[in-house]
Amino acid sequence: MTAGATRRSLLAGVAGLAGLPAQVMARDSTAAGLAALAARRGVDYGAAVEPENLARDSSFADLINRECVSVTPENHLKWNILRPTPDHFDFGGADAVVAFAKARQLAVHGHCLVWHEANPAWLAAGLTRQNAEALLNHHIGKVVGRYAGHVGSWDVVNEPVERNDRRPDGLRRSLWLSSLGPDYIPLAFEAAHRADPAARLVLSDYGLEYDDEPWMVEKRGSLLALLADWKRAGVPIHALGIQGHLIGSRPPAFGTGLQNFLRDVGRLGLDIHVTELDVNDQQVAGGQDHRDRIVADCYRAFLRAVLTSSRLRVVTTWGLSDRYSSKQDMFPRPDGAPVRPLPFDRELSRKAAWHAMADAFSVR
Ligand code: G3I
Repeated sequence: MTAGATRRSLLAGVAGLAGLPAQVMARDSTAAGLAALAARRGVDYGAAVEPENLARDSSFADLINRECVSVTPENHLKWNILRPTPDHFDFGGADAVVAFAKARQLAVHGHCLVWHEANPAWLAAGLTRQNAEALLNHHIGKVVGRYAGHVGSWDVVNEPVERNDRRPDGLRRSLWLSSLGPDYIPLAFEAAHRADPAARLVLSDYGLEYDDEPWMVEKRGSLLALLADWKRAGVPIHALGIQGHLIGSRPPAFGTGLQNFLRDVGRLGLDIHVTELDVNDQQVAGGQDHRDRIVADCYRAFLRAVLTSSRLRVVTTWGLSDRYSSKQDMFPRPDGAPVRPLPFDRELSRKAAWHAMADAFSVR
């Protein structure tokens, strides 16, 4: 049994609260952490983490331990950090996250093996049609092999679809596509499966969430066709990851379009993971309480929609507390107020977003 499975079976006891009267459920909702609440719906809840924050901030580390059943290294499994030079692997940060998780019986989700971003300069400069397949196989074999039995699931390919690149199949023109063609995706999944046949293998992408955004609706169509082809060809892909980087300043249009898309993905025999959930509040106007309510409503609406899928297995937020969110650097607010995209505030107190997530996990 894996570390994560042990923790999950503990939470199953809490999950047994389902079926109690609503008032009792509501009281217990505030006592339990998000992982215990999500477990009632058969969902593993976790968060992306940076090892430096776990090491220097014990209150934050305790919060992760209380709220989560899994952790995802936010950056330390990316090529730019793992592979500073062609011959040297720096596993320090990723090892620290895995050790943290092991000590607390948390599962670990690996992010990510193949991406068009966060690559070292030497890779882009040196990748050729001749060496690409060997490089891909070597990297994936070494990284997945090292963590076999400790990292239970992987984002094998991250963000491979880009409509703006105008290929008929919807695939992104990336360094891997230029050197290997579309086969880089099956090759990556096969290499990961060889290195750890027990690992759950995920393809993760963004821009799949909103029903009222034409390019996202189009992207769903491209992805569905690609996934169907790969499944038909026997590619060992087990789940679609929907990143879930939501935008607080737009209407939460997570309706039948999203639900039907998830149903169709499920019919291909794939599970659904929400891999990077947060709510960007950069353009949300008003006072803090008002903004927090808007962000919370967005979490609630999205989770209710994805929870209609019987194949939803994992929800991961991209961080847990506003104390540590990459949104602060990537999408700072024009009024200079700190961003508040996550379930906990900078003081590690629950926000309206936490309660909205708890509501969504509790309602059937
Ligand atoms: O570690 C250095 C630090 O020493 C330096 O002081 C600082 C100055 O900016 O930079 C730090 O590195 C940054 C790193 O995040 C850690 O904070 C990098 O510059 C920055 O590029 C890196 O950004 C990450 C980004 O991916 C690119 O890898 C974000 O943290 C991370 O949240 C983001 O995550 C991506 C997912 O992987 C894929 N989906 C989109 C998502 C962004 O929302």
